[in-house]
Amino acid sequence: MAPWRREARPDDLEEHLGEPVTRPDRYARAQLREQRRHHPRSCAGHLILAPLWVAYQANLGTLLRTCDAVGACLAVPDTPHYAEALAKGDTLPRRPHIHRVRRSKETWVRNERDRGARVVAVELADGAIPLVLLEPARRRTVVLLGHEHHGVPDEAMELCDVAVQIPMLGVGHSLNVAVAGSLVAYRLAGLA
Ligand SMILES: C[S@@+](CC[C@H](N)C(=O)[O-])C[C@H]1O[C@@H](n2cnc3c(N)ncnc32)[C@H](O)[C@@H]1O
Repeated sequence: MAPWRREARPDDLEEHLGEPVTRPDRYARAQLREQRRHHPRSCAGHLILAPLWVAYQANLGTLLRTCDAVGACLAVPDTPHYAEALAKGDTLPRRPHIHRVRRSKETWVRNERDRGARVVAVELADGAIPLVLLEPARRRTVVLLGHEHHGVPDEAMELCDVAVQIPMLGVGHSLNVAVAGSLVAYRLAGLA
């Protein structure tokens, strides 16, 4: 077996550090994971990815992992479809904070604006700024992501403070929505 395929063993580390290394056993690790699951994160109130129109479960799972990576929350409609998607895509020891959107999506976005959030639409739209000009978020920021076929609806675009687009050089018309959302999330989090 190629050396890079073999899982690292404790004695590999000992060789490096010159002292015995102990690892929690599988059972202890599973217990730790369970404990973390029962203490969901609270809202950091900074960055909220809102794939309110995204339909495909794989994309929602990917965005959940991005939220974890950049320290953002996720906002999704409070429906069985979204609950199922997150349950499937959730391979994390502890979930990011999830905002469940119970009223109309546009009302939720409007309420976020009223409480002072900046609303950023990720969309190929007239007047959208290129990703490179997007500054890291300095206040609570909601990021709208559109449906795989229909994009962000016009009514929601009207509620945005700014639209951002990711330039594309190829022949495809658009990126995968989870890729687009992740690029923007990294930028707003100040990590890229
Ligand atoms: C596959 S695209 C939707 C394309 C749809 N056919 C349209 O023309 O609106 C799904 C979502 O991904 C995001 N997206 C994909 N590529 C993008 C890009 N290059 N710049 C900004 N957003 C993008 C947007 O949020 C968009 O609503």
